[in-house]
Amino acid sequence: MSPTKRPGILRMSTPTSPQPKGIPVSAIRPAAVVVLAAGEGTRMKSATPKVLHELCGRSLVGHVLAAARELDPQNLVVVVGHAREKVTGHLGEIDPDVRTAVQAEQNGTGHAVRMALEELGGSVDGTVVVVCGDTPLLTGDTLKRLAGTHEADGNAVTVLTAEVPDATGYGRIVRDEASGAVTGIVEHKDATDAQRAIREINSGVFAFDGQLLADALKKVRTDNSQSEEYLTDVLGILREAGHRVGASVAVDHREIAGINNRVQLSEARRTLNDRLLTGAMLAGVTVVDPATTWVDVTVTFEQDAVVHPGTQLLGATHVGEGAEVGPNSRLKDTQVDAGARVINTVADGAVVGPQASVGPYAYLRPGTRLGLKSKIGTYVETKNASIGEGTKIPHLSYVGDATIGEYSNIGAASVFVNYDGEAKHHTTVGSHCRTGSDNMFVAPVTVGDGAYTAAGSVITKDVPPGSLAVARGQQRNIEGWVARKRPGSAAAKAAETASRQEESGS
Ligand code: UD1
Ligand code: MG
Repeated sequence: MSPTKRPGILRMSTPTSPQPKGIPVSAIRPAAVVVLAAGEGTRMKSATPKVLHELCGRSLVGHVLAAARELDPQNLVVVVGHAREKVTGHLGEIDPDVRTAVQAEQNGTGHAVRMALEELGGSVDGTVVVVCGDTPLLTGDTLKRLAGTHEADGNAVTVLTAEVPDATGYGRIVRDEASGAVTGIVEHKDATDAQRAIREINSGVFAFDGQLLADALKKVRTDNSQSEEYLTDVLGILREAGHRVGASVAVDHREIAGINNRVQLSEARRTLNDRLLTGAMLAGVTVVDPATTWVDVTVTFEQDAVVHPGTQLLGATHVGEGAEVGPNSRLKDTQVDAGARVINTVADGAVVGPQASVGPYAYLRPGTRLGLKSKIGTYVETKNASIGEGTKIPHLSYVGDATIGEYSNIGAASVFVNYDGEAKHHTTVGSHCRTGSDNMFVAPVTVGDGAYTAAGSVITKDVPPGSLAVARGQQRNIEGWVARKRPGSAAAKAAETASRQEESGS
């Protein structure tokens, strides 16, 4: 169940980097965007292909595709290879319209782009944007600026670069000392010490002229330390052939971070999370402790929502106006309506109605719907349960497969016994009911409006409206049992003292 979205929601869309003045933004749809996602990502040391690792609610490649879609390309091709069934299956779920090109052996990024062009019929007219599937922080705006610069300058190729504090592992941008023009890219593994000192790196994102790209790729060789066809060699090839080679420097170097290992994955998660929280705070959300608050890209807020420390908001979670969530809560696909309060709670697929109160230590499972001003208290678990306006389930209970009306109170330590070992059954409790503590409602069963049930009852039969149901054994007191069966014990002595005091009337 996904929460209903209402108008007036502040979307935590990622705030973009400040727009540099005078840089054209492409108005033309590129002929194609090619996303490289065939590599294994050995440095991740994982059974999961690198591009399927998760970050703020999306796979790495999912983030890249979302940015690519902002260009509205005529073709979107993802190059798959390693674990391609898994990757292709995932692409089918998140973006069924993408085309895939298979790169059976990972012979390098240049070879991968060649496979993509083959999928597109050999070459394409117009701009081809190439992006790596492992740069999830890249924004659509940056891609648009790259394509804009590329087209405005009439380049054969434009590479997105950035100055980074630590360039280890990246391809370095080599520029002509006199003119400053880009002459080529040299991979870290192939670079000299002097080249390794360069801090301007290749982001792995390029805009190419489609025809020139196809021609140049045929000339790429494999005489490098990795014996691969490097896409990066295309720059030098085009330049030597007399074509215009340009560079667009990214405004924020963190945007182009490539993920190659799990340290970088966690750094990227931190960066993206900060970006999302900054957007939310600037839009009127109080985030008490951004360091311990984690959100997915799909989470939305309304103004004056408050998030307390130690809180994870996942999937389609929405926090309404003035609602407070946390501390220490994990909400997935959960709608928290205006003014509600959710403390120390785990929730999945739940709707928390306006001004409702949940927790501390509650577990709301899928299909939970809490009405206006209702209350789910401490150590209460709910599943597939509709709880009416003003109804309270304050302590130590399990409510599964149930409908409860308005302004009823469910006594402490109650269990809605929904499972007979084979099938689940439903319990209905009416409005204005008062059920006793330690009740078992053995479903299917109905408690009518205004009914009461006695503490300790096992309710197996329907309770008519307005009745009191008592369903428990009679109490029997066996007098003198302790003195006879436990003579000399502390209990026996206490009982003796009590009966003497009673006799003497003290
Ligand atoms: C690459 C660039 C480097 C750049 C860096 C940016 C090359 C030769 N190097 O290095 O200049 O600074 O990205 O992050 O282009 N892939 C394939 N097929 C292959 C090889 C790779 O599809 O045969 C894909 C991978 O899945 C990945 C992307 O291409 O998504 C980049 O590959 P990766 O191995 O991460 O290259 P880097 O060493 O990071
Ligand atoms: Mg990489």
